[in-house]
Amino acid sequence: MPQRTDSAPTSGTFHPLDQISLGKIVQIRERLMKTQAEGKPVFRFESGDPSFAPAAHVTEALVAAAYAGRTHYIPNNGIPELRKALAEKVVRKNGLEGVKPADIFVTNGAMHALFVVFGSLLQPGDEVIIPDPMWTEVAENIRLAGGVPVGVGLRADRGYDYDATDIAAAITPRTRAIFVNTPHNPTGAVLGASSLSAILAVAHQHSLWVVSDEAYEDVVFAPATHLSIGALARDNERVVSIFSFSKSHAMSGLRTGYVVTRAPVLHDRIPKLLRCTINGVNSLAQWAALAAVTGSDEASLTMRDAYRVRRDIMLRALEGIPGLRAFTPAGTFFLWVETDSSVYQRLEVADAAALSDSLAADGIGSAPGDAFGPRSADALRFSFSCDTRMVREGSVKLREALL
Ligand SMILES: Cc1ncc(COP(=O)(O)O)c(C=O)c1O
Repeated sequence: MPQRTDSAPTSGTFHPLDQISLGKIVQIRERLMKTQAEGKPVFRFESGDPSFAPAAHVTEALVAAAYAGRTHYIPNNGIPELRKALAEKVVRKNGLEGVKPADIFVTNGAMHALFVVFGSLLQPGDEVIIPDPMWTEVAENIRLAGGVPVGVGLRADRGYDYDATDIAAAITPRTRAIFVNTPHNPTGAVLGASSLSAILAVAHQHSLWVVSDEAYEDVVFAPATHLSIGALARDNERVVSIFSFSKSHAMSGLRTGYVVTRAPVLHDRIPKLLRCTINGVNSLAQWAALAAVTGSDEASLTMRDAYRVRRDIMLRALEGIPGLRAFTPAGTFFLWVETDSSVYQRLEVADAAALSDSLAADGIGSAPGDAFGPRSADALRFSFSCDTRMVREGSVKLREALL
């Protein structure tokens, strides 16, 4: 008799996917689409997708690769040209000393990078410390790998700093890693050298991994600057860095990101997960990514400046509205707004989730705070990654709706 090797679903049997949500932001998006289908204008403040097209040299490289027939299987870990260029980039720009092409693993966006990193690091029951609030998919990828996300609350009165003392207090014998995200989605906080050094010290003291998600490294507003935690690590073997082309180069649909790690155990495991999930990122996207990383960064800087203008428009629109406290983001294209009962009473809604729902009915997108963590229910996240006109017009509507 052949042995079953699968675990076919039977009713009542736990399956790891049953604890993963379908995403609250997706539900809001669907609601907005419905409103749009009814012929009403919609303002897409719920999701973080750059409104820009990639730079011309990036699109040209993508098309040229297609015409050159670069459409065959490619090396599992990424094309050598891209891995070499990325190794040089992270040494030059991020200060990750000694990184070689072999330390780069090209993934299907930073999302897939999180999947392969947690899948390679965690054993069932291992805990990973994450900020609360945090972009939902981080916790989901930890759970998918059998791990347990442990949230550390961030506080508005501390500028949403990710405090090393709070992190240390959350460590248990099961803690395996500290997850760091700067610039941070959803608050837009950018961590400085002292916060990152303190986190590294805690990680070092407890022999923990540090997983650093730097998807928004290029969306930072002066005087803030982006600092990679890996640049501060004396021995960066236990620091795993994750980057993406989605936001820096407006290449979200091309699904290209990468992991940087010098750890032998990850050099061994990550290629296995890459092989069994994607067997290499789309070849054309990789040639486009090569053009993006080796070409001019003018387009990235132009986008960053436009995001700053949009941020200020939205901030102004929310000024002085009772019951709302908007945080000025130093990076990302998100506005994190804490809400209190006075705004719920005035607008006759039960909570922030209901408020987000009622805004969606008016065609205004937002992401409810509870999508980002259990401590963050009294908040809304508004994205200003849609085009400037939509931000301008939508901000007027938003103010009217909230007053
Ligand atoms: C903090 C953070 N990390 C990673 C990602 C994933 O980006 P992508 O998979 O498009 O590279 C996102 C996307 O919104 C994000 O906000």
